[in-house]
Amino acid sequence: MSCINLKQNIWDLDVVFPANHIISQPYFDNAPVAILENFKVLLSRDVFSEGDSQPFYDYLMTRKAEFSQDFLAFLDLWLIDELKHYEALRRVYSALSGITFREMDIIFSQRNHEIEPIAIALEDEFTILVTFMFDELSSAYSYRRDLQEYYSHFGSKPQTLVHHLIKDEGMHFNNAAQILLNNHLERLGEVGDFLALISKLESSLNKYYQTFFLDHAQEKYRFPTYFNSVIIRFILAHLGLGKKPKQEELLELWQWKPEGYNFVPVIKLQEEN
Ligand SMILES: [Fe+2]
Ligand SMILES: [Fe+2]
Repeated sequence: MSCINLKQNIWDLDVVFPANHIISQPYFDNAPVAILENFKVLLSRDVFSEGDSQPFYDYLMTRKAEFSQDFLAFLDLWLIDELKHYEALRRVYSALSGITFREMDIIFSQRNHEIEPIAIALEDEFTILVTFMFDELSSAYSYRRDLQEYYSHFGSKPQTLVHHLIKDEGMHFNNAAQILLNNHLERLGEVGDFLALISKLESSLNKYYQTFFLDHAQEKYRFPTYFNSVIIRFILAHLGLGKKPKQEELLELWQWKPEGYNFVPVIKLQEEN
């Protein structure tokens, strides 16, 4: 019998952000133009990286025989959440930009999900779990930043929604940690070196390869240069392998801004790169 107690944040998307929700005009009138423009670019990426969970899950299922029952149970819960995130962000993107669900279906169907560039992360259950920890924690902090800089301008519904996303990503992080601690204890000593490898891989990727993992490769400039090192120290501390970063360091992960900006632009810096 497994002693792992996988947790899931229970929330109803149809209550939090109904499919027909209209963001009222005053929010558009009051939000700075640059915020709306940047937000739409941000969503044009985030929506689909949540959707990439399905092809990633399908790929992992082709290797099902390699994995433990705990990990398979984790993946099933995780997929339900990520597909809910996909639908949630589709609703926000549509309400903000007018893009239709049909148009988003077409964009998604044209994606190319590559496995090879992230093969190091997919070696076995252990490396996949550690990469999950890295990715889910980074996503939680990234959504914190998005909430503060973008979602907060468009009413309480988008804000509540992102609060749930943050909570969900945090639970995915915790669940992955539980399986590591219970089933892969003998390999804990490898976690530090492996995370350094993953961070190096992410830095070397020139783009996101649309297979769920390492999607922050497409938006490195939105985060301080020390982002990954703080994330890694947080993970190691969570596994009992080091000291947790200070509160100020964690706040900086989502409050840092490039010099001269009062929010982290998505468009401008991208053009400069
Ligand atoms: Fe997600
Ligand atoms: Fe997640």
